[in-house]
Amino acid sequence: MDTSDIIHDGVSIKIYSADEPDKVVISFTDDITAFYKIKKAVINGKGVWCNNISSMISRALQKEGVPTYFVRQLNDTQQLCYKVNVFQLEVIVRNVIAGSLSQRLGLAEGTVPAEPIIDLCYKNSSLGDPLINEYHAIALGLLRKEELERIKDLTVKINEILVPIFKSIGITLVDFKIEFGRMPDGSIVMADDITPDSARFWDIETGERLDKDRFRNDSGRVGYAYQTVYERLKTLNL
Ligand code: CDP
Repeated sequence: MDTSDIIHDGVSIKIYSADEPDKVVISFTDDITAFYKIKKAVINGKGVWCNNISSMISRALQKEGVPTYFVRQLNDTQQLCYKVNVFQLEVIVRNVIAGSLSQRLGLAEGTVPAEPIIDLCYKNSSLGDPLINEYHAIALGLLRKEELERIKDLTVKINEILVPIFKSIGITLVDFKIEFGRMPDGSIVMADDITPDSARFWDIETGERLDKDRFRNDSGRVGYAYQTVYERLKTLNL
């Protein structure tokens, strides 16, 4: 891939223009960062594991009727996706309390809320991606009200599809972050990769963390965590 064609030079993914003008190539790297890039490392194999995990999840969602920007996996580290206008909005689903919400609400990590929680964050790293509510999202002009309703419906559906998939491979889907975009025809699609970089996965039997928290918390064996999620998902032939 010609690096002069780069559209987005991120840490864990780089986006390149594709031969077809309506598509992009997403390339997964072995780089990992945390705490707004203060902490950095390279985890050999992470790009391959994340591309495969993300591709398997996208295929599973599409099979159940969830529109996503994913077109197909190209090779070990790259996937072809539709070019979409991504909303400046992060949607976080929480099935179990962990991370920042545990501190904010003073609840122990591992607490199961009565219902899954959906948080909205304004995607603006200079402001620290602040938590916002639905009124803020509309008032800021991030998207239209009917688009927000559609995103909420799709988010609930995505969670309902993914929780049992992960349960079947011995993993609790604790939380995950997703983004959405608008296709040229105006339809809304999920426009994100779901991987251990952006989700929390806990082993059901042992409680072991199989995600980026191992890197955040210096628990070691970060690669092992990503590889475990990949290998267990692979058994499902998604
Ligand atoms: O990770 P932290 O505790 O700071 O934030 P959180 O709000 O508890 O994160 C919830 C989930 O969304 C975790 O799985 C994060 O990895 C993910 N997330 C993300 O991928 N990107 C963000 N900008 C924020 C959260």
